[in-house]
Amino acid sequence: MRQPLVAGNWKMHGSLATNQRLLDKAGLAGLSGARFAVCVPFPYLFQVGQALAGTAIAWGAQTLSEHDSGAYTGEVAGPMLRDFGCRYVLAGHSERRSIYGERDPQVAAKFVAAQRAGLTPILCVGETLAERESGATEAVVGSQLDAVIDAAGAKALAEAVVAYEPVWAIGTGKTATPGQAQAVHEFIRARVAKAAGDALASGLAILYGGSVKASNAAELFAQRDVDGGLIGGASLVADDFVAICRAAAAKGH
Ligand code: PGA
Repeated sequence: MRQPLVAGNWKMHGSLATNQRLLDKAGLAGLSGARFAVCVPFPYLFQVGQALAGTAIAWGAQTLSEHDSGAYTGEVAGPMLRDFGCRYVLAGHSERRSIYGERDPQVAAKFVAAQRAGLTPILCVGETLAERESGATEAVVGSQLDAVIDAAGAKALAEAVVAYEPVWAIGTGKTATPGQAQAVHEFIRARVAKAAGDALASGLAILYGGSVKASNAAELFAQRDVDGGLIGGASLVADDFVAICRAAAAKGH
């Protein structure tokens, strides 16, 4: 049975001092039944790695270069992230897509680069409000998924995580209903099953992201195909993040 995962996405928040306070309080000792991680800004990987080494919480980054090294000023490569003990890296977060112009082929190349470096990519997919309202949710999510399947091969999803993050729910306080999330997660799993077979699809962790809070995590995670969450704002509040992790751990037991 697949294990739930809760991954915090700190985005561009934090400082050495505030991170330390957050990490001190994010004690998950004794929690089992799920996997936990935080994806943090590059400069804090060393600090976070030192603080979390030997704990139940893994760490990772929020993006990476599609190249392994070279003249790419300002970029950070997968092998560098491995050097700092990262296990995970986000690929194709909607803020990367919408603000920095990342398109499906580049997201797919980043996904491949992450796996080449031994990292587990968390592939983010999701539709905008206009796309949902025009009935295009499955077409959009399906083509985001297909771009990666075409570039990496369907079997590559065995070593990856997918996060469904409706753009209209990210940072807006507007969460997808458990039914809306379940419907898209079920669609994603079916699409993966068609490409890679039932066994791989049933082992794939599909996270929901978009205004997950301590108060709604349990009902979202109760859905059959919702295997945990990608958590932005609430991952910056230790008590909330721990409560969300507990909800995932409860599902995993
Ligand atoms: P949010 O962000 O939880 O603040 O909505 C989720 C994300 O962007 O990964």
